[in-house]
Amino acid sequence: MASPNRLRLGVNIDHVATVRNARGGDHPDPVRAAEIVARVGGDGITAHLREDRRHIRDADIARIQEATALPLNLEMAATDEMLEIALRHRPHAACIVPEKREERTTEGGLDAAAMHNTLVRYVDRLGAAGIRVSLFIEPEARQIEAAIRLGAPVVEFHTGAYALAEGEERTQELTRIANAAALAAKNGIEPHAGHGLTYDNVTPIAAIPQLAELNIGHYLIGEAIFTGLEPAVRRMRELMDEAR
Ligand code: PXP
Repeated sequence: MASPNRLRLGVNIDHVATVRNARGGDHPDPVRAAEIVARVGGDGITAHLREDRRHIRDADIARIQEATALPLNLEMAATDEMLEIALRHRPHAACIVPEKREERTTEGGLDAAAMHNTLVRYVDRLGAAGIRVSLFIEPEARQIEAAIRLGAPVVEFHTGAYALAEGEERTQELTRIANAAALAAKNGIEPHAGHGLTYDNVTPIAAIPQLAELNIGHYLIGEAIFTGLEPAVRRMRELMDEAR
């Protein structure tokens, strides 16, 4: 039986789509990756429909939903286009992320504090449709307070700065994330985390007791090139379980 303290693993399959899109065809299919994740005990599928469609395409959303029973966490920018798509497909969760066309990846968290008036409509409309709304934010009290004001049930902490830091700086980043997870949980918000997590840096994050879910993509898909996706997901799962 799963332990009540089990940390969920959401696998971000965007980079399977990135490789597929490099040739514009159908292979490798992110849906096949989602099926493997389901088979090896992943807890969810995460995918980002970007404005430029560089990762998954519109049609992939329904295909992923049909292919597995795993909850889909749709990452989306706060735009009317994405809101309409999310309301049409009703994924289990929608994670609102900042999006810049020129960035290589999601570079930082949403400034939920400054964007309250923009975000409130998205949080309300998605929530009213039964979609669990998550805000991808920096692990800062100010952003958590903004999430509380917005009524978001979930926040996901951007772990990119932690992943890039070394030595004492990494310890400080870890403390920031641990404090933020405790503050969110104390206020009834479910904390998640993700970005830049690897076999080498996941353990201290997975050990933060309040975190309920990690979303991990690029590293796992990269490892899958060498070992296959199944062993890569299994190894990450093992490391996460050992940390608890
Ligand atoms: N969580 C969110 C909200 C993301 O946008 C991403 C991808 O940028 C991830 C998790 C996964 O990050 P990575 O691919 O670095 O594991």
